[in-house]
Amino acid sequence: MRNNYSQKKNVYLFSAEFWNKFALRTFYKPYFFPQLYSSYLQQIQFIEKNIDLNNTLILKTDMYVESQMDIVLFFERFKGNKFIVMDISLNVLKKAREYLVAHGIEAEYIVADVRNLPFRRETFDFIFSDSTLDHIPQKELGRALMDIKAFLRKDGSFCFSINNRYNYFLTLAKRIYKILGMFPFVSFSFYPKEILTILMEQKWIISDFDYSMLLLPFQILILKVMYRLKRPKEEVINFISSLDKTLRKFHFLNKFVNAHFIYFLRNG
Ligand SMILES: C[S@@+](CC[C@H](N)C(=O)[O-])C[C@H]1O[C@@H](n2cnc3c(N)ncnc32)[C@H](O)[C@@H]1O
Repeated sequence: MRNNYSQKKNVYLFSAEFWNKFALRTFYKPYFFPQLYSSYLQQIQFIEKNIDLNNTLILKTDMYVESQMDIVLFFERFKGNKFIVMDISLNVLKKAREYLVAHGIEAEYIVADVRNLPFRRETFDFIFSDSTLDHIPQKELGRALMDIKAFLRKDGSFCFSINNRYNYFLTLAKRIYKILGMFPFVSFSFYPKEILTILMEQKWIISDFDYSMLLLPFQILILKVMYRLKRPKEEVINFISSLDKTLRKFHFLNKFVNAHFIYFLRNG
């Protein structure tokens, strides 16, 4: 009986019903803006370093950041391409669409599960997954990656970020929040090597790898204080970027201070 209950609960936590409810909350507080913005920018620069996107068909696998805040950088930077944007949650898409429309960005919106994509195979030139794959059951990750590969054109590319287990501070903080019932969703973390093994098995061509989204102990607290002190957004973004740049000089630190790691792959 109990087993049955926890099975149902587990399925629910990965369902559209859960994410639709979650979408109605404001999870990212306003003081998160510089954090999200600089991490988003970092991912875009990583993509630009690896590919020149022009006149292509792009899929973005979730629209959470865009549904929470006015951050439409990805679409602005890669205009001149056709966008299909998806999310498991209709509510997330509706909210994101308000921001995109306000910026005059055109896209096709599709409610879909990244584990079961409703497209024709070999459709996309480029797929971008900004930390979507942390939110599916771990045992389904390999299959989801394999599926994404099938929906890429033969010469297509895939860039994805995912939670970095080496950020032990964050892993611990999440665990404590979870125990206290204060962490609202399921989100798995991985070591880059675990993912690399899957990618090699699936014969992806691995073009680039990096750590992204600087997240140090007490960083959120510092952001909160700066927000209270009404520091301009640009100043806080610059503060995070220069902190990131400085820490990047110490290569060995990178993996411990970033919340995500990011791969750039080509279909092989
Ligand atoms: C908490 S957000 C995290 C990702 C977000 N890019 C970020 O960094 O904040 C998770 C997003 O992924 C979407 N999502 C969760 N499971 C999904 C799935 N199986 N397929 C597609 N989208 C999914 C959720 O609706 C939500 O918009």
